[in-house]
Amino acid sequence: MNEIFSTKPSVFRKKAALSEQYLPDKLIARDQQIGEIAELIEPVIHYGLPRNGLIVGKKGIGKTSVIKYVIKEFNEIALKNKINVKTILLNCGIANTVSRVILEIVHQVSPELQVPKTGLSLNEYYNILWDVLNEKQTSIIVILDDIEMLKNLDILASLSQAGEKMYIGDEVYIGIIGISNDLFSSEKISPNLIQSINYKEVIFPPYTEEELRQILEVRSSTAFKDDVIDESVIPTCVLLSQKEGYAYKAIKLLEKSGNIAEKKKEDFVSGKHVFLANDEMKTERGIDALKKLSIHKKLVLFSIVKLIKEHDDKITTGQVVSEYQDICSKLEIDHLGRTSVSKIISEFDMQDIISASLRSRGRYGKTRLISLKWDLNRIKEVLYYDYRLKDL
Ligand SMILES: Nc1ncnc2c1ncn2[C@@H]1O[C@H](COP(=O)(O)OP(=O)(O)O)[C@@H](O)[C@H]1O
Ligand SMILES: [Mg+2]
Repeated sequence: MNEIFSTKPSVFRKKAALSEQYLPDKLIARDQQIGEIAELIEPVIHYGLPRNGLIVGKKGIGKTSVIKYVIKEFNEIALKNKINVKTILLNCGIANTVSRVILEIVHQVSPELQVPKTGLSLNEYYNILWDVLNEKQTSIIVILDDIEMLKNLDILASLSQAGEKMYIGDEVYIGIIGISNDLFSSEKISPNLIQSINYKEVIFPPYTEEELRQILEVRSSTAFKDDVIDESVIPTCVLLSQKEGYAYKAIKLLEKSGNIAEKKKEDFVSGKHVFLANDEMKTERGIDALKKLSIHKKLVLFSIVKLIKEHDDKITTGQVVSEYQDICSKLEIDHLGRTSVSKIISEFDMQDIISASLRSRGRYGKTRLISLKWDLNRIKEVLYYDYRLKDL
C-alpha cells in the first residue's frame, strides 16, 4: 500500500503557532498601544463610561492581536468585578451592513432570541437592539475590525448617541472601537460623524528590524523543534519583510519555509527555503491580482496568451488589439479602443506579467513586441477560473 501520510518526524513542534488565528502569550513592542486601548475601556471597571477609539495601521502589524489580548484581560477583570459588560469583536468583512452588525450584537448579548435575518426595517433592527440591552442591562464594547469594509458608517453615530437620545437606560452604555488598515481612514469620515463619535485615535507604527527579529525568535521557538532552523532563517525572513515592516509577512515566510523543507523531506530549514517561500508568496499574490482583473483586462491578457501560443513568438500590439476585438464580438460585448488596450498592455508590463518593449519599425513608426514573463499555462489556468472565458 502507498504511504499517503508521512511518518517522518516533522520540523514543526506546533505548526498552529504560525497560523493567523494564533494569539501569542506575549506581544512584542506593543506596550504603548496596549496601554492606550486599555485606557479607553478602563473606566468601565470603575462603573464609568468607555471612550470610543479608532485603531489605525497597515495590515499585518498586530492590530487584531493587540485588541484580542486587551479584551481577554478586560473580560477577566470585568467578570471578577461582576460588571455586566460584553466585548463584541466583529469583522466587517463578514458583518458588512448595519443589519448584520446589529444581528451579531443581539446574538452575542442574547443568544436565545430569534431575530429574522431579513425583512425588518433598520429601525426595527435598532429597536430590537435597544430592547435587548435594556432588558439584560448589558453594556457593550463593540469592536469593528477591518471597518473600511463596512458599507455604511451611520451605525457609528446611532450607537454612540443611543444613550443621549435615551434609547437605552442610564445603566447601559455602548463603547465603539473601530480598526482600520487605512492609515488615512479618519480623513474619509465626515466631520459631523467624527464629532458625534468623539473618538481617540491609536496609531500602530511599523515594526523595526529588531522588533521583527524578536517576534520571529519567540514564535519560532514555539512552532519549530529545537535546532531545526539554521541561523540564517530569521534574518532572511526579516530582510524580506522589513520594507513593509509587517509581522504578517515575516511569520508567513517562516511557515512556508518550514512547509517547503518538509515537502523536500529535509531535516533542517535554511535561508534557501525562505527565498523559495518568498517566490511562492509572490506567485500567489500575482495569481490573486490576476483573478481580480476586470473582464476587459482578462480578455486582453487572454488574447496575448492565445496569440503567443499560436505564433510561438513575440507578438505586436496591433495583433493583440484585433484578437481582443474579435473575442469581444464573439462574446457580444462592446470592446475598448486601441488606446485603452495599449494602456492595459503597459500595465501588464509594469506588473511584470509580460514584457512589452518598444521597437522601431523604421518608417512604419514604433510598435511593442510582447512576450510573457509568466508561465503561459499558469496564466491560462487562472483566467479559466472565470467561467465567462471558459468557451473561448
Ligand atoms: N507584537 C507582536 N508580537 C507577536 N506577534 C505579532 C505581533 N504583531 C503581530 N504579530 C503577528 O503577526 C500576524 C499579523 O498580526 P495581526 O494582529 O493579524 O495584524 P493586523 O490586524 O494589524 O492585520 C499575526 O500572526 C500576529 O500573531
Ligand atoms: Mg487585523
